Amino acid sequence: MKDLFAKIYKDKGPLGKWASQAEGYFVFPKLEGEISNRMKFQGKDVITWSINDYLGLANNPEVRKVDAEAAAAYGSAYPMGARMMSGHTDLHEQLQNELAEFVGKEASYLLNFGYQGMVSTVDALVSKDDIIVYDVDSHACIIDGVRLHMGKRFTFKHNDIASLEKNLERATKMAEQTGGGILVISEGVFGMRGEQGKLKEIVALKKKYNFRLFVDDAHGFGTLGATGAGAGQEQGVQDDIDVYFATFAKSMASTGAFIAADKEIIDYLKYNLRSQMFAKSLQMQLVVGALKRLDMLRTMPELKQNLWKIVNALQSGLKERGFDIGTTKSCVTPVYLKGSIPEAMALVKDLRENHGIFCSIVVYPVIPKGLILLRMIPTASHTLEDVEQTLVAFSAIRTRLEDGTYKRVSAKLIEMMGE
Ligand SMILES: Cc1ncc(COP(=O)(O)O)c(C=O)c1O
Repeated sequence: MKDLFAKIYKDKGPLGKWASQAEGYFVFPKLEGEISNRMKFQGKDVITWSINDYLGLANNPEVRKVDAEAAAAYGSAYPMGARMMSGHTDLHEQLQNELAEFVGKEASYLLNFGYQGMVSTVDALVSKDDIIVYDVDSHACIIDGVRLHMGKRFTFKHNDIASLEKNLERATKMAEQTGGGILVISEGVFGMRGEQGKLKEIVALKKKYNFRLFVDDAHGFGTLGATGAGAGQEQGVQDDIDVYFATFAKSMASTGAFIAADKEIIDYLKYNLRSQMFAKSLQMQLVVGALKRLDMLRTMPELKQNLWKIVNALQSGLKERGFDIGTTKSCVTPVYLKGSIPEAMALVKDLRENHGIFCSIVVYPVIPKGLILLRMIPTASHTLEDVEQTLVAFSAIRTRLEDGTYKRVSAKLIEMMGE
């Protein structure tokens, strides 16, 4: 019989196999200093374009003060126990009420982490007779939630309404046999390429098909819509989203998340969400911190305005210089270049070491072979000077990519590493 670990010793997995070349630099890099537009990487100052602190709240002095006071008042233990048992407080309830109001829903419920919360919400919303229809490019937490589903599921092509409709037809036929219902899942903003989910078009299909819509708006919350209520508000269909999800890990610059829906649905979920029933309550310092952040989202529209000033400058600057930024309709700013993985590594090294620019890099198998995706997250804490410096750097690295410099450098690198 094989040792259980035999496969682990042999194969580290699609990402783990790059660990010896990538760890500490391309993956698990250590960014140091206060979270802001400029931080330190391996002792060098870098402009950071890889942190989802959209509204620049992570290091806002008022936010830091409230966080520190809450930590002093409550420590990190309080309240102990799951919400249902001994972990429920007035402030948890207050935050839920304020979040629900902010996103225009009757009620909301807190989640300790967005990821687990999404998995658990999908699990709680469907029974084995129900059918899930979801976008093929969904975030891992949606996919993992769907994995728990005991019944049928269909994917539709990314943001492709004709494909969604085809799958809704199939799902409808199937649901008529099983006696179940249909849950459609999409995202407000797809975090890798920045496209908004076609919520308006999806909602329009409700006239023809009977389904409920669940939207993960991790990147839309706080960044899109007139008041920052997200992609549904931006597209004028917030009321037609049956279950709305957002995390505190992005615009709120914290930890935690929530779902919002009609009161009856939230009442059901709070008795059936396994990730909350069997896990400790969101700790008080995070609840107090979230109340403060939400207040700032509500009362300081300039945060979102500053964010979009930077987004617009960065995206239009890239386009003017002929960069391909795909079809983004959000703050997420992808830059697509052509090259191999070793070239991508050399390029990112050049960006960080010689130009002081830190952004995330995405390569095959996440995107097609031969493409390099530099994923940039503009925030309200960036400046127009950061944008200008970055645009100059991007033009320089493109020249070196095209004239074969990175090919030559990476050939040496690969040889040195015995690849
Ligand atoms: C689209 C999306 N959904 C869910 C999550 C998970 O949220 P959390 O970090 O709160 O677990 C993320 C990442 O943060 C995300 O990008």
